[in-house]
Amino acid sequence: MSFPRVISWCIPLPWIGILFQIANCSLANPTPNPAQLPTPHTFRFQNPLQCLKNEFYNLNLFDCVPCNEVAAGDGGLGKLQPDKFSCKCPIGHLSIYERGKTWPTCDEICTPDRNDNCTSVWLPQPRPSSQCSYRYLNSTSVFASQLPVHPLISGIILTRTNPSSSVGDCHSCELGHNFRYQDFCLASTLLRPYLHYNAFWQATTNARPDSGSPSHFGDLKFVAFFCLTLRNDTACQQLANLCVLSHFSLEKHSPCSAFLLTQVSDVVMKYAHSGEQVRSLQPFLFYKKGRSTKELLSKTLQMADRQELRLFSTTFGLDGGLKRWGAFHPEMLNMCPQAAPSLRVALPKQESQVSCQLALDRLIDLANQRANDEFLTVYLNFSSNWQFLLHQLPVLIENLTPENKRSQPEEWQLVKRFQLISASPRDNRLHQTLPRYEDGHKLQLYYSLRYAEDIELHYTLDRDQPDRVGLPLIRLRYRHIEMGSGNASLSQLYPFRLRISYEQVKRGWDWLVLEVALPLLLLLALAAAVFRLQNLRRRRKTDLCQLGSLMELLLQLAGNVAYALLATALLLLLLQASSPRLLKLLLYPASGLQLVFLAVQLWRSSQLELFLIDWERPRSSCEGQRLNLDSSSLCSSVRTFVAESSVSAWRVLFTANAWIRLSVSQRYSTLGQLFVVIAGYQMLERFTGDLGLRCCLLAALYLLTYLLQLIGHRLLVANPLQKFIDLCSLANISLFSLTEPGFGYYIHGRSPHGFADTDMSSMILQLQRTQTMSGRRGLLMDSDKQAYIILPPRNLHIYLERLLLPFQRSLTGSLSQTLLYQKDIVPSIDGQMERTSIAYASVNRFFCAFIDHAIKDMDYIIKEKSFVEQLLNCEIDNYITENKGTFYIDDSFGFSRVLLLGNHLHIFVLELLLLLSIFLMTSNLLIAAAAACVFNILLRQVFRHWVRRNVSRKTLIDERFLL
Ligand SMILES: *[C@@H]1O[C@H](CO)[C@@H](O)[C@H](O)[C@H]1NC(C)=O
Ligand SMILES: *[C@@H]1O[C@H](CO)[C@@H](O)[C@H](O)[C@H]1NC(C)=O
Ligand SMILES: *[C@@H]1O[C@H](CO)[C@@H](O)[C@H](O)[C@H]1NC(C)=O
Ligand SMILES: *[C@@H]1O[C@H](CO)[C@@H](O)[C@H](O)[C@H]1NC(C)=O
Repeated sequence: MSFPRVISWCIPLPWIGILFQIANCSLANPTPNPAQLPTPHTFRFQNPLQCLKNEFYNLNLFDCVPCNEVAAGDGGLGKLQPDKFSCKCPIGHLSIYERGKTWPTCDEICTPDRNDNCTSVWLPQPRPSSQCSYRYLNSTSVFASQLPVHPLISGIILTRTNPSSSVGDCHSCELGHNFRYQDFCLASTLLRPYLHYNAFWQATTNARPDSGSPSHFGDLKFVAFFCLTLRNDTACQQLANLCVLSHFSLEKHSPCSAFLLTQVSDVVMKYAHSGEQVRSLQPFLFYKKGRSTKELLSKTLQMADRQELRLFSTTFGLDGGLKRWGAFHPEMLNMCPQAAPSLRVALPKQESQVSCQLALDRLIDLANQRANDEFLTVYLNFSSNWQFLLHQLPVLIENLTPENKRSQPEEWQLVKRFQLISASPRDNRLHQTLPRYEDGHKLQLYYSLRYAEDIELHYTLDRDQPDRVGLPLIRLRYRHIEMGSGNASLSQLYPFRLRISYEQVKRGWDWLVLEVALPLLLLLALAAAVFRLQNLRRRRKTDLCQLGSLMELLLQLAGNVAYALLATALLLLLLQASSPRLLKLLLYPASGLQLVFLAVQLWRSSQLELFLIDWERPRSSCEGQRLNLDSSSLCSSVRTFVAESSVSAWRVLFTANAWIRLSVSQRYSTLGQLFVVIAGYQMLERFTGDLGLRCCLLAALYLLTYLLQLIGHRLLVANPLQKFIDLCSLANISLFSLTEPGFGYYIHGRSPHGFADTDMSSMILQLQRTQTMSGRRGLLMDSDKQAYIILPPRNLHIYLERLLLPFQRSLTGSLSQTLLYQKDIVPSIDGQMERTSIAYASVNRFFCAFIDHAIKDMDYIIKEKSFVEQLLNCEIDNYITENKGTFYIDDSFGFSRVLLLGNHLHIFVLELLLLLSIFLMTSNLLIAAAAACVFNILLRQVFRHWVRRNVSRKTLIDERFLL
């Protein structure tokens, strides 16, 4: 409970940080590098009345900012004077706009006679008279270089006189080299970088059947010039409004291009033009796309008032002037005659919406009334650390881009300013128009209308935190009405709806699982993989080459990561914090990884080096001393396999077949598993609602059945591993296997009586004798331990390979190869047979001698594994040398790891993953169950095939003898 509290305390911190940043950038350094600054969404509202004498009010930050500070370090120090929402030069001064500076430099204009205390720019003109018609704007570079005082100034100069005219009149603006805009006379050269904006204006007007209609975009280049070059805030507001009016056009020359360039992260540079300086434009219009959108929308804020949402809004006119600010009420968006819903928190559904049908007549009236002149921005008033802050509300316009219709917030392009209704007016001077008193006149006013037909204010509430609210989102859907074609009718009805909706959210656990548990599990997976790799290197006794190590690490990692992903998915299911998309994202890769891991693991297990050591003595030579069990080496007399005509091969065949059968036996039955799951699911299905709950039920049932089966197997069924060991003893055959050159398993199956190939009566006789006297079956004289994990001496593998060489050559080598090595050519089957049996016999003899400690330079010791070693399945301190190995007593039947029995957990996990994945894909349990079942059957068949082939190859038993 306390953890979420801590989090909720921590949430304001970044915002405080951002506030400091805002404070820093607006107060301390006036021209920071704009590209790095995040556009702020949170503001501390300051009353403009609180501004000091030398401060102006920054409308975009709701903050008072001193004027003189920003001009520090220049000739015009402190001359700037606040003018409500901006700073300007005092009367009688030149404003020189320089590149890279936010505010102009002010220079006093001196008279030619210089008899006053003028210290600044010397102008050959008289002081400008106060009744000028024009203000001139020209570039200063050439002009300034002639000046003795300020040779370095190069920028744009604003003056009331015309510097180039010797007469000094300020009443003419020669249109050959100048543009006229309001009362400015602008030198053409200045506007050159902005002329491309004309293209947008032409594009918008040319789409009309009759061009020449008044368009709001005609002045676009001037607005852009004032905003981008002169940094005039009013012009920037106007530019922003034009952008809204163009429906946030993404075209290259649209008014939005400058905003897109600086405010949206991933815009291509196609919006950049040489003349425009890349800097953060101040009316904040766009949100950045991508991950941050999701974070933004999942943000919760402390309400200023527990009962009601406190909203604040600003309304700008098209010309960039502030029309109104103050408390926001939904009535401002309401076009219906009924009252709009209130902003009370958790409004009941029936009160939360208003909708009606609007006649076109009424819509045109509304358009007239608002006249494209209301641009709204809404803020949430919230409290943080005992002060009130404003957070800009994101606006989602559904028909802005196709991405905005999708459900993933990451792809949305959110904006900050919107219009309720906009119209493109028709130029009626060129038309035959109806008189005003005719109703039809209304239809001739506009080409088209665009109004918000569906407005939704959506927020989330958290039951655990009644004082917090999710950041509200304004969703808008516009409808476009064409009226130019002439078949529009005033009585036609159009829908309108305004609603305020909220959603109760549970405190999501998913972030805890995804951001804490998952990384931890993945880390653990990596650590385990590295550990396993280390151990494997020791077992292989080779320094794996770089690539081999990497592959091995990746393989181990694949298996471990699959487990981690499954654990995460199960956690999410348990906490009911999952979405199908998230589950798919976790389960599909997990299935793939586990499949790869298991396939490689089983393939390796099936390809182990396997030797069946036959301890049987030739009866003829041992007949007299059959009870003398302590003869030094029972195998010393073993010659060749073929020579042992008295020993039957049945025992070896039998053991090999038993091994294959053991390999594919399973600890639990998949069929039973699935049967119980399907039955349980049918019974409990009606209590479950969504997909998440169903998956949870499935996983729980599957796990439970698995555990029950394991317990049942343990209690009711005799251990098949022990049974196999008993069989080995009975057959007097030991099983020696190596999974790696330096690691393997040994099952000691030497009969305590020395022979097993006998008739029934002597068998029974032996059995009775075993019960009375202490004939032990173990490798050590006084123990019954028969299973060992072995780390053989290093020489063993080399020696073994040498012994097997002739056999392998005969098996794989072609005739020509055989020719090279063997002088006497025996290409017949007989020759091959002979080599095979010779090889077999020598291997058998070698192993018997090795186990009996009869080889001088190859020996072993027997040890117990420590608890840690057993737990982690590793060997920590092994004293392996060239000729000394270690046999660890294996009480827990570690050799099952090369069988399906020992891999049951891996198989189970893969089956569970498959079941869940396919269920998610098809949402049909029967298909999923069938798939899991088919997988299990396939797995067994394939593994059986592999093992069979391997056994036949390694024990030199022809595959035809294996049942
Ligand atoms: C110039 O400044 C001095 C002192 O600052 C002042 O006494 C004098 O009257 C000023 N002259 C004019 C023409 O303003
Ligand atoms: C603007 O300045 C240029 C030289 O920098 C000059 O040639 C031109 O006549 C000026 N235009 C106006 C209208 O003053
Ligand atoms: C800003 O531009 C507007 C025209 O868009 C103009 O009327 C106003 O005087 C300018 N303000 C400053 C401080 O230059
Ligand atoms: C925010 O709400 C508080 C409390 O209702 C109020 O005092 C404050 O003036 C509001 N802020 C704005 C900018 O309206």
